[in-house]
Amino acid sequence: MIVDGRRINACLTLAVMHQGAEITTIEGLGQPDNLHPMQAAFIRHDGYQCGYCTPGQICSGVAVLAEIEAGIPSHVTADLTAQTTVTEAEIRERMSGNLCRCGAYSNIVEAMSEVAGLETGRRHA
Ligand code: FES
Repeated sequence: MIVDGRRINACLTLAVMHQGAEITTIEGLGQPDNLHPMQAAFIRHDGYQCGYCTPGQICSGVAVLAEIEAGIPSHVTADLTAQTTVTEAEIRERMSGNLCRCGAYSNIVEAMSEVAGLETGRRHA
């Protein structure tokens, strides 16, 4: 989930620790009749299989693109003095904490790349 604009592990925190915070969950991003662009991209690219990890993946995906836009570097950011840009390596590194037992990683990267405006050349129909 996203707390005050930062993604956190919902299972490792207590609600009482975030009293007064702005909390966004998958339901807060979009609804079936009005999907968030990341939710729509996950559907288009089959960014899930069983769906267990999907709410966290989508929330994290939205926050990751915001982190990059905000200029927050990651472990694969080559130049810490330059504006960070969305690359496949940045997406993979920043999403590495979101595990998917179904192994939908490549499709998740494609969905996020589409939302970020990257051309991957591996798009689904
Ligand atoms: S879609 Fe099944 S664990 Fe990720």
